[in-house]
Amino acid sequence: MPDKLTVAQARDADAIGREVLLQGWVRTRRDSKAGFSFLEINDGSCFGTIQVVADAELTNYESEIKKLSAGCSVSIEGLVKESPGKGQATEVQATKVTVHGTADVETYPLQKKRHSFEFLRTIAHLRPRTNTFGAIARVRNCVCNSIHQFFQEDGFLYVHTPVITASDCEGAGEMFQVTTLDLNNPPRKGSGVDFEVDFFDRPAYLTVSGQLEAEIFACGLGKAYTFGPTFRAENSNTARHLAEFWMIEPEMAFCDLAGNMDLAEQLLKRISRDVLDKCREDMEFFKERIDKTAIATLQAIIDCDFIRLPYTEAVEILKSSGEKFEFPVEWGHDLQSEHERYLTEKHFDSPVILYDYPSTIKPFYMRVNDDGKTVRAMDVLVPKVGEIIGGSQREERLDVLEDRMRQQDLNPEDYWWYLDLRRYGSVPHSGFGLGLERVVQFITGMANIRDVIPFPRTPGSAEF
Ligand code: 4AD
Ligand code: MG
Repeated sequence: MPDKLTVAQARDADAIGREVLLQGWVRTRRDSKAGFSFLEINDGSCFGTIQVVADAELTNYESEIKKLSAGCSVSIEGLVKESPGKGQATEVQATKVTVHGTADVETYPLQKKRHSFEFLRTIAHLRPRTNTFGAIARVRNCVCNSIHQFFQEDGFLYVHTPVITASDCEGAGEMFQVTTLDLNNPPRKGSGVDFEVDFFDRPAYLTVSGQLEAEIFACGLGKAYTFGPTFRAENSNTARHLAEFWMIEPEMAFCDLAGNMDLAEQLLKRISRDVLDKCREDMEFFKERIDKTAIATLQAIIDCDFIRLPYTEAVEILKSSGEKFEFPVEWGHDLQSEHERYLTEKHFDSPVILYDYPSTIKPFYMRVNDDGKTVRAMDVLVPKVGEIIGGSQREERLDVLEDRMRQQDLNPEDYWWYLDLRRYGSVPHSGFGLGLERVVQFITGMANIRDVIPFPRTPGSAEF
């Protein structure tokens, strides 16, 4: 019996001399005048393909092999040999080719030519078979693995926070509602809908962040992190926003903003190192075809010290930059992506951690500074993508937190359990949220965030 190997294993010179079984999809077929065919097979185990030599003596050569085209699925049995060809160590001399599924050349959407990413989004069920999306899938997988390892090795507890919630963590009112009420004929109470008879006896939503619940675990068990889907109903059709995305949220008790920044920087360095180590071939592809600076960018993350800069100083830099921005820079306003990019790409040419933002533009839970005007917020900005991480030291003083809630029109009673963390054994604590898709976008250089998540959810689009 032949050994079942992946294409990645069979491409390794160590496999020479072995009788193997390979299973995957045909990328191309070339027929030689000398009476045999070359098949390029990919199975997703690596970026590259393996060349299979299929002789005319094979029983199904004329009936099946000579009809193989891109997208056909096959099992190949054969002997791994040293390849005389350039750019590959091995090839497989087939002794048996089994065709599982054909793919009609006339209708199969993935032809050999280069397809636009916009077109590939319309065939998200087939795009994992392309070079680009295979590489993205492997990088994304590597990033997730790296994140879990980083936190596990550092003693963080992985907690699963709820997807359905009644509280708006970010206070931005961008929540998708979850209801079992009949929207055509909802029960009424006064002038509105009676949510007391809804499934959860109150209005409920898909979560925008697992932070509040992560704080519960940190304020009892020390260090915790979440890694889950989050949902935002912001109607922004940008290349950096999704309605459904994955967020990693560490939370640490007895940790201040400086410690929080250290963790964020270490995490991004670790991810970069692991991707460079484990996805070299995929990264070479991104460098070649998507973004010339892809590998240098990752190396720079590993090598440099992130700039740490108060928001107020950033505003001064931007104002005196002489740059013509579309949106004016004003203390007290959120920075636009053009401002973030100016700082990371032009002024510093480095990742920048901005901190101490005006309290008016940040959520209720961030710790108020002694100046009374700013809070201990931090945003990690990187070239091209802009904000990749948002976080803060949390307000641990009960009275200050209650004041902040009222200022933002939140009812402290609704957050009684969150306030209890400040009532009983309160501790200084900090955490942040890292957007998984923003990281993958940053690493791969892909221009649109819709192309780094398998099935993007955006305004007007929930196919697949
Ligand atoms: O800055 P945000 O809104 O922070 C929070 O949600 C905090 N509760 C996190 C915390 O402190 N535990 O979001 C965090 C990150 C952003 O920096 C960005 O990377 C990503 O989540 N993000 C999005 N990614 C894709 N599409 C969107 N619509 C995103 N909104 C935020
Ligand atoms: Mg943010």
